[in-house]
This record gives sequence, structure tokens and C-alpha cells, in this order.
Amino acid sequence: MRGKRVLLGITGGIAAYKIAFLIRLLKKNGAEVKVIMTPASCDFISPLVVSTLSGNAVGIEFWNKKDGTWNNHVEYGLWADVMVIAPLTANTLSKMANGACDNLLLATWLSMKSNTMVAPAMDLDMYAHPSTKENLERLESFGVDIIPATSGELASGLEGEGRMAEPESISDAIQNYFDRQLEPWFVSKKAVITAGPTYEAIDPVRFIGNHSSGKMGIALAQNLADRGMQVQLVLGPTKEGIDHERIEVIRVSSANEMLEAVQNRWNDADIGIFSAAVADYRPAVKADQKIKKSEDALQIELVKNPDILLWAGENKKEDQLLVGFALETENLLENGRKKLEKKHLNCIVLNTLQDSGAGFGVDTNKISILDNHNNLQEFELKSKTEVAADIVDYVKNYTTK
Ligand code: CTP
Repeated sequence: MRGKRVLLGITGGIAAYKIAFLIRLLKKNGAEVKVIMTPASCDFISPLVVSTLSGNAVGIEFWNKKDGTWNNHVEYGLWADVMVIAPLTANTLSKMANGACDNLLLATWLSMKSNTMVAPAMDLDMYAHPSTKENLERLESFGVDIIPATSGELASGLEGEGRMAEPESISDAIQNYFDRQLEPWFVSKKAVITAGPTYEAIDPVRFIGNHSSGKMGIALAQNLADRGMQVQLVLGPTKEGIDHERIEVIRVSSANEMLEAVQNRWNDADIGIFSAAVADYRPAVKADQKIKKSEDALQIELVKNPDILLWAGENKKEDQLLVGFALETENLLENGRKKLEKKHLNCIVLNTLQDSGAGFGVDTNKISILDNHNNLQEFELKSKTEVAADIVDYVKNYTTK
């Protein structure tokens, strides 16, 4: 579960107190946990306990009364790899079955991009009621995974079916869910990905760099790894990062370091996706000491950096698959096609800074993919996570066609 993002939703039932144990288990297994609570659940477990154990602020209302900031349900929905609602009360169940949206938890569920699991908990008569059965069936028909309630002693003193599954069982069900995401085609393969900017040193304190965040390459690494691939992510200097059991992150700074990291790994890889924004030039010499200001003008001689993608293309074996990126401001298709051929690529991902919401630093991107059979597919503006899934799907279909 290392690096997985689990969004827990807590509703107002007595079993809510057990969620403290679930959070600890998930954290121990390496997951990142955020929690949304319904107002009613705060009577059963303190938000302070939940935020302390999860290490994240808890979302309860649509907006924070203290500072007026909005709890963005769409962002929660994009962030999570899975949403787990536990305990699920009869009330929230019926609202989910009917698309009601009168609290943050429900709004977030309606905005979820990935799957949801629920662990119902209620008294035995409520659990056995035909409306409960029907609502659970309805949730199942929406694709929600049900972690069934178990039999045992209930808070009412009655014995029977309705107890929330124990935290260990819920954690196992979440692990099973992630295991089910693995796809055989990915499990047997290795990928090398480049991402982020490069910094080319001028002196010990200054560099030439660019605004790339590396988010696109990180999202690609995550998508491949979630589906079972072993990924080596060669990442330039960025504050972004990723912790995932199938991703090895190799931090580099300059283009030359990135090239060396790729040269050491490309031979063993099945797939290369090169999304890094490599500086085309670097200072011819790096000054040993900080350059002092003296003259009115300063000239720095720049020399060309190695083209890492070109190196990988020239050293590509028949069965290796290589994907490059092209960020162009004009003649996108024509320039993209030239790069595809020159660098011996199978596919090239085209984007232009002219599309609003595309490019550096933002969380969205709008791409087209061109391949060496001259197929061109255009995509809508999407989150980088969704764009990564589109690119990976394209690559998979390209190779299995
Ligand atoms: N790339 C690379 N090494 C470089 C330059 C680029 O690996 N030194 C890779 C990028 O990661 C990207 C692709 O090449 O996948 C396209 O990069 P881009 O800078 O757009 O193309 P260039 O070939 O540098 O052409 P130009 O700057 O003239 O547009």
C-alpha cells in the first residue's frame, strides 16, 4: 500500500471509534490517508484524533468557518486512489443510493474519479430491512465495492448481522482492491521515465533552469506502477516526489547527470517515456566561486547539452518502446513529426502552451499523441493523472495491436 492515497469517509455510527485503528493500520502499511467526516460522526470520534492519526486536516463542512476557505470536494476526488466509507450508516447509504448531496462527504463521493468501497454498520433490523438491501444493491450497480457487515454483538445489545467489518478486514479489502488493479501486461515489464527540469550550474549558487514541476512524469510513473510495472523515475530538481513500492526515484540535477542515469538503465527497460524538460544548453564552465558583480554586462558562454531522448532512440532495441514529448509554440504537428523521426520514437506526446490549462506547473494538460504509423489521437483538457492514463493506455494498445 506504499504511497497509495486512501480517502476515508466517516459517517455517524458507533463503529466510527474503530476508524482510529484503521487509520493506524493504513499508515503503518505506507498509505497516505485523508479523512472526511459527516457532522454526525463527530459525536462518535473526535476530529482531533482523526487529524492527528492521519497527519492531515479533516474535512467536515463545505467551507472552513475559521478562515472562510473552501473544502474542495473535486480536489479530494482527484487526489484519492480509493475512497473508503466506514462506517456507512443507513442514512448515508440511502443518500448515496439517491445521489443526495447535503454534506462534504457526499459531494466528494459524487466527484470521485476512482473507486469507492463501503463498510456498512447498523443494527440488525436496519441491516436486514429491504430498503437497506435494495440501497446496497443499487450502490453495487454503481460499481461501489461493499465490505459486508459481519455477525456479532451489536451496540444495542442485540446479536446478529450488522457489525462493521473489523479494521484489519477493511485494510485487507483495500489491499485486495489495489492488487486487483494489477494487469498482467504491466507486471512483467520495466520502464524508465524522465521527468522534471534540469539545473545547469553557472556557479556554486546559480543555475539555468526552467519551470517544469515533473508532475506529468510522476503521474505517468504512478499509473504504470499502479498497474504493476517496475518503474525507474529519473527526476530532475523539483519539490514534487512520489513514494511507491514499484517506483525507484533517481534524483538528478543536470542534463549530464540525467543522461548518465538513463544510460545505466535503458538497456534493461521495456518502455521509456521521456517527459523531462531538459535544458538545451549549459554554461561552458561552472565558476568555482560565486561570480561577483563587476561589469554592467555579463556574458556566459553556453554549450549544447546531450539530447537524452535522442541517445535512447539511437540505442533502442527492436522490442523496446520509446515515447517522447514535444512542447511547441508553433507548427505543433509538423515539428512533432520531425522529432518523432529524428529521435527514432514509437510515439510522441504533443502539447502546446497555447492551450490554456496545458504545460508547466498546472495540474491539467491537453495533449495529442502521434505515432510512427502516422496515427494521431487528440484528447480533451484533463487532469495530469487522467492524461497519464490516456498515454499509458495508448502505449499499451500500440504494443498489443
Ligand atoms: N529531450 C531530452 N534531452 C534533451 C532535450 C530534450 O531527452 N536534451 C527530450 C524531452 O524530454 C522530450 C523531447 O526530447 O521528450 C522533446 O524535447 P524538446 O525540448 O521539445 O525538443 P528538442 O529536440 O530540444 O527541440 P527544440 O528545443 O528545438 O524544440
